[in-house]
Amino acid sequence: MAQLQDKLILPNGVEIKNRFFKAAMSEGMADKNNSPTEKLVRLYERWAESESGIVVTGNVMVDKTALGEPRNVVVENEKDLDLLKRWAKAGTKNATHLWMQINHPGKQVFKGIVKEAVAPSQVEFEPKLQRYFPVARELQEKEILDIIQRFATTAKIAKKAGFSGVQLHGAHGYLISQFLSPRHNKRTDQWGGSLENRMRFLLEIYKRVRDEVGHSFPIGVKLNSADFMKAGFSEEEALQVIKTLDQLGIDLIEISGGSYESPNMTGLNVKESTKKREAYFLEFATEARKISQAPLVVTGGFRTLSGMQEAILEGATSMIGLARPMAVYPHLPKEMLEGKRESIELKPRKTGIKLIDQTAMLELTWYSNQLERIGKGKDTKASLSPKVALIQTLWKNGLDVFQMRRV
Ligand SMILES: Cc1cc2nc3c(=O)[nH]c(=O)nc-3n(C[C@H](O)[C@H](O)[C@H](O)COP(=O)(O)O)c2cc1C
Repeated sequence: MAQLQDKLILPNGVEIKNRFFKAAMSEGMADKNNSPTEKLVRLYERWAESESGIVVTGNVMVDKTALGEPRNVVVENEKDLDLLKRWAKAGTKNATHLWMQINHPGKQVFKGIVKEAVAPSQVEFEPKLQRYFPVARELQEKEILDIIQRFATTAKIAKKAGFSGVQLHGAHGYLISQFLSPRHNKRTDQWGGSLENRMRFLLEIYKRVRDEVGHSFPIGVKLNSADFMKAGFSEEEALQVIKTLDQLGIDLIEISGGSYESPNMTGLNVKESTKKREAYFLEFATEARKISQAPLVVTGGFRTLSGMQEAILEGATSMIGLARPMAVYPHLPKEMLEGKRESIELKPRKTGIKLIDQTAMLELTWYSNQLERIGKGKDTKASLSPKVALIQTLWKNGLDVFQMRRV
């Protein structure tokens, strides 16, 4: 039976030093040209001291004209190779694996950030969110092929820069998950319709990336257990996708769930019975285990050492995914492994403004602020007021959006 401090050997033979996995958190720390900055170097240097087996970067975009947020890092050519090398070197200290998460937001992008949003099909957001998101244009096949190639190019550059793996972002309502979802993908060509067709986009990306980086370089995928929307991507379908990825030789599958429309990944909308098991997607992972050999990571909700130990011991997951805890306690795995901390408490962040509190927005904002503090060389601040965090982010991103509009 495995323990948290045990090594994990991936299917391709790559060794991970223990079972802690720092999950992706979008940092918003690129400069205005979407290049990496010294703040990112400092942030990942701190996490490389955390004793995490794998640290995944926040989502890095494959196309400058398709940003998810204003200050995303974009890697579409080698112009920032030296900066990427500095980032990779800092983040891989102490035998830490640093994997670049690669993403395309599709239509899940706030109005004003990009000139035109694209998606598998022209399907609008839930009415309550429509004023924040543009109506996307349906992608043409040649654009789909271009995006597939872009994922491969970004992965190739990540490898060249010294990142030790990549993770394809197939969860949370971004482009790959839009293709997977029958609610968002209404195409009638080879990219839509049956599950086989809807998963084609993800599989083609995986195969192209594999061709570029080779067998010994780890490729992971973050996948929704479901998107928790009416007529959306279901758990049965997710299991089929996991089985197929496993057969193709994927190295690691991270399990999450939800999207901006139904933000289950942060614990909103999650059933009380599920929350009692601490991590939100453990039950699904137990099912996935039965049909796939690929190592799994469950992310979402882990807060206690005993909960983490139990999940590893019972074999429901191979690694423990931690996002928000690592923003406030950047050395949490080390503290737990050394017996210095048993648990942490993270309260839901609320402003009192109903619309903001209903979505995951404030969660993201408050935690981004903590990352910003680490990037500036400061300590994190658990007592930071949610309203102050919101105002700071609106101020920063508000100006960025204005600048984008003028480009
Ligand atoms: C500030 C912030 C940014 C996030 N950005 C990303 C991201 O870029 N990619 C991703 O896959 N998930 C992202 N997430 C989701 C987390 O990886 C994770 O799935 C979620 O927070 C649940 O895990 P936790 O309970 O350990 O925080 C983000 C979460 C937060 C709080």
